[in-house]
Amino acid sequence: MFTHWHALLAVPALIALSAQGLSNEHTAHPAKSDPAWNGYTPPGTADPAPFTPYYVPDGAKSYDSASRLVHYKGTWADAYSSSFVGHSSRRTRQPGASFYASFTGTGVEWFGGTGPEYGAADVYIDGRLVDRVDSYSKDRRFQLRRFWVFGLEYRKHTLKVVNAGKRGKHGVHTTIDVDALVIYHGVPPPKQQLHQSHHHHPPPSHPLVEAAPVRAAQASPPPLQGWQLEQKGTTGVSAMQLAIISSTHAIIVDKVEHNPLTIDNLHPAWATLYNLDTHALTPLHVKSNSFCAGGAFLGNGTLVNVGGNPIHEDHTASADFDQTDGMQSVRLFESCETVDAAGCDIYEYPDRIRLSTPRWYPSVVRLQDGSVMIIGGSKRGGWINNATTNNPTIEYFPPKNIHGANGTPIHLQFLVDTLNSNLFPIAFLLPDGRVFIAANRDAMIYDWKSNTETRLPRLPNGVRVTYPMTGTGILLPLVPENDHAPEVLICGGSTLDDTKPAYEMSAKDPASDQCARLLLTPEGIERGWQVEQMPYPRMMPDAVLLPTGAVVIVNGAASGISGYKNVRDQVGMSNADNPVGTPVLYNPAAPVGKRFTLGLPESAIPRMYHSTATLTPNGVIMIAGSNPNLDRSEVAYGTEYRVEWLRPPYVTRSRPVIDEAPRAINFGETVKVLVKIPDDLRNEKLKVAVMDFAYVTHATHTNSRLVYLVAAPGEDEHTVTVTGPPNGNVYPPGPGWLHVIAGDVPSRGIKILVGSGESPPVDYGAIENLLKTETKGNQEVYSKEG
Ligand SMILES: *[C@@H]1O[C@H](CO)[C@@H](O)[C@H](O)[C@H]1NC(C)=O
Ligand SMILES: *[C@@H]1O[C@H](CO)[C@@H](O)[C@H](O)[C@H]1NC(C)=O
Repeated sequence: MFTHWHALLAVPALIALSAQGLSNEHTAHPAKSDPAWNGYTPPGTADPAPFTPYYVPDGAKSYDSASRLVHYKGTWADAYSSSFVGHSSRRTRQPGASFYASFTGTGVEWFGGTGPEYGAADVYIDGRLVDRVDSYSKDRRFQLRRFWVFGLEYRKHTLKVVNAGKRGKHGVHTTIDVDALVIYHGVPPPKQQLHQSHHHHPPPSHPLVEAAPVRAAQASPPPLQGWQLEQKGTTGVSAMQLAIISSTHAIIVDKVEHNPLTIDNLHPAWATLYNLDTHALTPLHVKSNSFCAGGAFLGNGTLVNVGGNPIHEDHTASADFDQTDGMQSVRLFESCETVDAAGCDIYEYPDRIRLSTPRWYPSVVRLQDGSVMIIGGSKRGGWINNATTNNPTIEYFPPKNIHGANGTPIHLQFLVDTLNSNLFPIAFLLPDGRVFIAANRDAMIYDWKSNTETRLPRLPNGVRVTYPMTGTGILLPLVPENDHAPEVLICGGSTLDDTKPAYEMSAKDPASDQCARLLLTPEGIERGWQVEQMPYPRMMPDAVLLPTGAVVIVNGAASGISGYKNVRDQVGMSNADNPVGTPVLYNPAAPVGKRFTLGLPESAIPRMYHSTATLTPNGVIMIAGSNPNLDRSEVAYGTEYRVEWLRPPYVTRSRPVIDEAPRAINFGETVKVLVKIPDDLRNEKLKVAVMDFAYVTHATHTNSRLVYLVAAPGEDEHTVTVTGPPNGNVYPPGPGWLHVIAGDVPSRGIKILVGSGESPPVDYGAIENLLKTETKGNQEVYSKEG
């Protein structure tokens, strides 16, 4: 058998090694010495073998094909080569032959090869058929991930892989192989978790309690009726950036790292589409490193994703991932409405379309002309911003020729005055066409047409609200009854001194429990910020608007700050600790003191740095991400791929249905919307809303918006006449989700385009000037980022 394989394998440097001489278990060492990082140079040659997706994260364990963990049935043979993990792989071409492994833990990955002699295999988890994997390929490759599953319940599981006896799509052979299994043994849940429902609140003896009294934690509130939390689906790439792109899909954008989702069998993916119904993943072809980019939809429905990180030449070895420098990248994703999202991808044209300066951690706001304003960021990856790294400017996409800038950046003094903790500013377009911006402890209104800044009162009590002292901000619902008077709500953050060195900060330093609210009318500004206390302190919270007008605050930690590998008392690499698993409901319309409601179902999954949450079209909140790590890790707080779905009570009721609505609604245009209202909601007040679910990253929900529209009963009980938003200041032209709400029960959102659907204005002179005056990319290389 061995000779057979020797002849079949066209591997130049086949070296027969004694299997007994090799240890067949490899514990993770994601360090410079790990050959998997940088490609692998087989003995006796100077040429590194191609990069392979085989990777063992911190906290996981690899088992070779010869390990006692793996049991074989049927005729299998060993092949030996330095191209294999542990220099050996075991294979069969016998239909029905199988291998089997049982393990206690939360996940497993099967690594093997592809090639012209390969065929298909059926994969069973716990006896259930879960996948058919076709390993046929023209090219022979090794150490590829053939199958992975994470997020299993912590207990004993089995993996069984059976030779399906089926030739691959184009092949004539039926080989399958196993090179290695990577097992996620996980950690058993703490015993107390089984009995105590609120285990994520710091226990009473915790030092944090002295530092920051955790209100309301003393008595567990009664559960709120009807709310449900379910874990289902995994994201394949870490969900650092999240946006709903259609009624069936979300887009998820991550940084370059060893994600389990692989693209074209070549390298780990760092962006994917996520099917909201089937939970299936479609990896996207991103060229540049999108680490800590910002995003927004343009007025014509195209999503832009801007900025990012340089190439890593350090031990993350992402040069092997074929990426390009992302600091000045503009990535385009055209609107994608097909049910299976076929043919939708991310495109980059760095020679023609790019930013004028490097931006890491910029915020992106859609304006009333359908273009976007790109605010601030840092000129290089790092952690907390400072005068050297700061990029205190704005620019537009497409570039504009205004204020003499002609496509080049425009200075914003506010971003100088708000150093150091001023990245990912909180920003919203206001109904008078100006832009609200908050950074660090300050806030202002920027009139982009006249290039003037109007400072607002400072946020109260010294709370800093932008990265890495991350809070979250939301524009409260806009209603026609008060002429869309805008009011912002900013929650969480930290009162730490942002000029202190990292070693004087700790993951145990308490986060802020403050929410501050400012009505942006002359009277409201005169009255100043109104302060409220959340039931829990929160660093890195996400605030998600529901169509009902309520806000759900989820995710985050009760102590520490954003980022990783910086401060004292890190947990794993996390700069934050004490995850807050309990969502809080905030009703902006209720009287002060009655706005927060507890009793929503609690999550056992820590959602720390790089977590996200968004409303989905059916009114459910999608919660994903968490990755305070340099690369994929399985130790606390590890890289989290599991998705959770927080379902408000209206999901299980009979709901209003939008039977027919126009695909586009222009400003001030009156249209007919056909609806079905369930009998028990007939007497409820009917409202119609258009919502922007935002592009969510790093707790910024820029462009999040809920505008109630003028609506009246139509000619019959199934018709509602709805008038589009009065202008692009109230709702900037672009995609939106139309909801009909009866009482407290919203319909599913229907995707519409608000405005004319035209592309934003393009100034070719400004584009040429940008391309002429700035060099492409920023090739500076950094080995560490926060
Ligand atoms: C500014 O930040 C960068 C990136 O984190 C760091 O390398 C540099 O030392 C900082 N400079 C100062 C003056 O603190
Ligand atoms: C939308 O506008 C952008 C910016 O000009 C352009 O790149 C993109 O192709 C447009 N999309 C469509 C669908 O026209």
